[in-house]
Amino acid sequence: MTDSARVGNESAAHPGLPPVITIDGPTASGKGTVAHSVASALGWEVLDSGALYRLTALAVLQHDVDQEDVQAVADIAQHLTVQFHSTGVTLDGREVSELIRQEQIGNLASRLAPDPGLRAALLERQRAFRQFPGLVADGRDMGTIVFQDAPLKIFLVADVQARAQRRCNQLIEKGISANLADLLADMRERDARDVERVVAPLIAARDAHVVDSSALTIAQTVQVIIDLWSSRQ
Ligand code: DC
Repeated sequence: MTDSARVGNESAAHPGLPPVITIDGPTASGKGTVAHSVASALGWEVLDSGALYRLTALAVLQHDVDQEDVQAVADIAQHLTVQFHSTGVTLDGREVSELIRQEQIGNLASRLAPDPGLRAALLERQRAFRQFPGLVADGRDMGTIVFQDAPLKIFLVADVQARAQRRCNQLIEKGISANLADLLADMRERDARDVERVVAPLIAARDAHVVDSSALTIAQTVQVIIDLWSSRQ
């Protein structure tokens, strides 16, 4: 990745603010699992920012909101009643952890996500997760927009074939039928949307470490990040 393709270079960590490790990357790059493992190794909290976009998508469907009405979608995001707990998340008091993982919800989240009003509505909610002793934040724009001053930024990549295969295995493990070719096509489409959008595109921050996990296990990827964090101390 060339430097000119990178943004969000304001990494001077705010003294006094809780530390943040940002992990950005495309769908199914393993960010979520890696973020949770890094957080648990450090005793920190996790922000799964994609879940907020997925929760918005679910609320849009449940409230029968016009998906083209950007103001109505931003209003839904602004007023989401969500509660993250140790094993998942509730929306309006109802457990929705499994529901928001459906491909249909992920695809709608990706289609809604380019809207600046929606992104602005979720910004402070995401920043409120920054608490001591520290936060591991995973998403697309954690290092470039939401936590520009994070002292460690990771851009986690893996080739699309490896990601589609991982997603396929995950779905089959859960007893959900999955077709590799369909997943691959969906993933390519979603990657293109996330990378090409004008607002907060999926891109490595100038000061991010690019980690390719195609040939790494989760444990190896976690270790790379922990080593990077330790070497900063
Ligand atoms: O990480 P995920 O697959 O759960 O995210 C679902 C969608 O939400 C993703 O396709 C794009 C959007 N998203 C985003 O625009 N910005 C983020 N920080 C996280 C997710």
